[in-house]
Amino acid sequence: MTLNTQILKIREKFLHEYKEVKNSKDIERLKIEYLGKKGLLQSLMLFLKDASTEERPVFGKEINELKNEITIQLENGLISFLSKEEDKKLNNEEIDVTLPGRKNFQGRFHPLTLLMNEVIDIFVSMGFAVETGPDVDSDYYNFEALNFAKDHPARDMQDTFYLNDEMLLRTHTSNVQVRVMEKFKPPIRCIAPGKCFRNENISSRSHVFFHQVEMFYIDEKVTFASLLATMDEFCSKLFKKKIETRFRPSYFPFVEPGMEGDIKCIICSGQGCKVCKHSGWLEVFGAGMIHPEVLKSGGIDPEKYTGFAAGLGIERLAMLMYNIKDIRYFTQNDLKFLQQFDL
Ligand code: PHE
Repeated sequence: MTLNTQILKIREKFLHEYKEVKNSKDIERLKIEYLGKKGLLQSLMLFLKDASTEERPVFGKEINELKNEITIQLENGLISFLSKEEDKKLNNEEIDVTLPGRKNFQGRFHPLTLLMNEVIDIFVSMGFAVETGPDVDSDYYNFEALNFAKDHPARDMQDTFYLNDEMLLRTHTSNVQVRVMEKFKPPIRCIAPGKCFRNENISSRSHVFFHQVEMFYIDEKVTFASLLATMDEFCSKLFKKKIETRFRPSYFPFVEPGMEGDIKCIICSGQGCKVCKHSGWLEVFGAGMIHPEVLKSGGIDPEKYTGFAAGLGIERLAMLMYNIKDIRYFTQNDLKFLQQFDL
């Protein structure tokens, strides 16, 4: 069979097969059959090698023409089949307008963030500036500069996660105190919100990490009375009503005198429940007059200046405000719990 007849035969075969095409898949199949690497046109090219020098350009041209013709036809066919198929698919799809709409879930702040922001706003409105300190800190700022000597038994009060001899996870936001004193001169009126860590047993009342807001004020003639007044003012602003508070003498090495501030348990109204350990009161802050040694660590003259400091436990406060009976809810990421707190 001459090359010429072969070309003609392939054209005929193609035209015949093309008539039978029913969809885009058939076109793809023809594409491979005719134009593919091992396709019919490629096999014609192999024959071209055996043709004489005169015939070669003539046949080459013919094969190329056939190739172009087939390519164009298949391309056009493919486009028209694909659009027909798409139309058919769309026509068959039905929209069920009676189906309920999809719900849009909106993110929101964690209840602790909400409360933290509220506490910050109140102190800022009272003239306090906001500072922060590191979660991973040195023994110096967390303990030593705060009048905890190396072997001070009060260190046992705070079960510390040590990273090595020198570094630890801060056990309280009081680590910010001396840092701020080093940076600013009195009058200093400052709060420091943040995360704290203690190696405690996890229970309904305590967790290994929690949040505090440290608050301190250093100036000439700062008195214990200003501390009580500040905490009273803060509590009534936070709870938006007069709140019953009580102050008990307590001990922290970095304050003298030191005390703990309690709020009447709002969950049980002072009757006694699991959260307040049946005492009717919830401890929400530690406080006191800044110890002269601590002022000295911060380069502040204790003869000239005095100051007060307080540390608020945010989880405790949140439990009171939102009537939450177990501190572990805050970290369980249960949407049913978290979605109750709106912006
Ligand atoms: N840092 C103390 C604690 O975490 C709280 C405190 C802060 C006490 C400031 C007195 C003054 O227990």
